[in-house]
Amino acid sequence: MVSVGNRIKGRAGADNRRLIVVSNRSPYHLESRGGRIRMTRNVSGMVTGLEPVLKSTSGMWIAWGSAPKSFTRDIYRIPPDNPTFDLKLINLDPDEIKHFYLGFSNSTLWPLAHNFLGRTTFSEKGWEYYEGVNRKFAKAVAEEVHSTDLIWVNDYHLALLPQMLRELKVSAKIGFFWHIPFPPLDLFRTLPWRIEFLKGLLACDLIGFHCSSYVKNFLHAAEDILMKDVSFSKGLVRNKREVRISAFPMGIDYSGIQKLIREPQTIKDAERIRGELGGQHIILGVDRLDYSKGIPERLHAVERFLTENPSYIGKLTFLQISAPSRIEIPEYHKMRQEVEHAVGRINGYFARGAWSPIKYFFRALPFEELVTYYLAADVCLVTPLRDGMNLIAKEYVATREPEKGMLVLSEFAGAAEELKEAIIVNPHSIPSMTAGIKKALEMNPQERRRRMTQMRKRLRRRTVRKWGRAFLDKLIQDKDQKVTAKRKESK
Ligand code: G6P
Repeated sequence: MVSVGNRIKGRAGADNRRLIVVSNRSPYHLESRGGRIRMTRNVSGMVTGLEPVLKSTSGMWIAWGSAPKSFTRDIYRIPPDNPTFDLKLINLDPDEIKHFYLGFSNSTLWPLAHNFLGRTTFSEKGWEYYEGVNRKFAKAVAEEVHSTDLIWVNDYHLALLPQMLRELKVSAKIGFFWHIPFPPLDLFRTLPWRIEFLKGLLACDLIGFHCSSYVKNFLHAAEDILMKDVSFSKGLVRNKREVRISAFPMGIDYSGIQKLIREPQTIKDAERIRGELGGQHIILGVDRLDYSKGIPERLHAVERFLTENPSYIGKLTFLQISAPSRIEIPEYHKMRQEVEHAVGRINGYFARGAWSPIKYFFRALPFEELVTYYLAADVCLVTPLRDGMNLIAKEYVATREPEKGMLVLSEFAGAAEELKEAIIVNPHSIPSMTAGIKKALEMNPQERRRRMTQMRKRLRRRTVRKWGRAFLDKLIQDKDQKVTAKRKESK
């Protein structure tokens, strides 16, 4: 292991371990503006969840990215407004982006984990690059890590990293959080490299998932595929290493959201948006443009709702905000066309005068702006066909006053394990979604208040900070329980 001395601010010590977060997606995108670096926050549940944790513990985040050409550093202090941790960037070349990121990660693992076997491609070249990029990350992490640090690896792009770090003699504790669903055994078994994949992951000390059903799927896969190679005591044991495997449902920054929605400017903007959208009833959908999110199905449900409930024609506006994502992958490109075609067709059929039922944005919005849209919406439709967690559902509920909002939620989103008082629908059934929309719009105020209040209470208790703390506490538990990750925040 290569040690680089005192390069990093967040220090390891007897009581304060330094945290090293590793993920493929960087929390910030860096570009050059007028000779200075401009940093833009990336949109993803993983970034939303991890940044507050690292802000409160300090340390380093290592991720894919590159600085603008005129800047030669590979470590930056972030977030830009109030720097608290270091960002180390790993550059990927065009072939790596093609075969590792767009290929194996997002054309093999992503569809497989979301139960889309028909969209899954298996390519040897993809696997080769997956191994290669995991090794590149392993080297970059090993250069920074000290034995007392905690390493927190995130997501399906880096499953081989724990094993590779052990090969580089990294002895620090390694936790891994898998942010997407873990597929049922029958699907996972189709992966030709399933053994190497599981062995790679099982070199860490703790593996976290959002839901208990993903934990079950993972344990089932490990037991069935690795057979005698694993045994079970408190956790799963492989190579004499005990690996804890648990569910940690990710929460949101509840108090941050409460602060934001009370700002006069946010309230003013939400009112303006309601006026601009021009409907008496506003329904909102917010997603990355991804086939797992069920956007075409949702549009068909809105169409069917208007057909069956003509009294809403001229009064209901559905705003779909779709953040561009992985657009170089043909499946995503097709999805964009399908969505845009459906929007055009539905609007063409129902539009009257200045009113049209669907407004569509194909861009990512900064969080502060997104909150104004949450505030403006009477109903939020979160209807993915499959989703690891879905923080949009939680953020929306936290934003709306109990008597003014309602959430329609897919039973196949991880968030449905917790948000049981939402109107739960089956996104594969257009009638189920149509009935959900009607129920949400016409629910009596007492019922609305009861459901929203219960969900909000839960969200207030299970914040993203507690999520991070619970994961890190479990990671350092047992062998040296006294050592806690450095936390600047007060409880
Ligand atoms: C999901 C994954 C994240 C990823 C995000 C955005 O939420 O769990 O790891 O960052 O999608 O996807 P992208 O391909 O843009 O990183």
